[in-house]
Amino acid sequence: TYVVTENCIKCKYMDCVEVCPVDCFYEGENMLVIHPDECIDCGVCEPECPAEAIKADTETGLEKWLELNTEYANKWPNITMKRDAPEDAAEHDGEEGKLEKYFS
Ligand code: SF4
Ligand code: F3S
Repeated sequence: TYVVTENCIKCKYMDCVEVCPVDCFYEGENMLVIHPDECIDCGVCEPECPAEAIKADTETGLEKWLELNTEYANKWPNITMKRDAPEDAAEHDGEEGKLEKYFS
């Protein structure tokens, strides 16, 4: 599966939503996650994210993010339509510690 990681938080560009063939993104206030059981591993979303927040879970060190995606994909509503990114998205791109500061 692919997973959404920390740099999505507060950037939330949503380009990923538009390209996913199986609509497996779920929406929190400041971040999206992927439902690991629904993702078909097509890889199309990965290069579309301007924040480079989407990774294949075959990369090392992503266990925490896989857990977070799994938990919140089961709590948050499905999203199938892209909306505009937050106005201050660019200011938060690459910022450290976003999980602790802003996760929601
Ligand atoms: Fe959707 Fe494909 Fe990305 Fe999985 S890898 S979330 S199926 S676009
Ligand atoms: Fe987040 Fe990137 Fe999608 S910032 S909302 S994973 S395009």
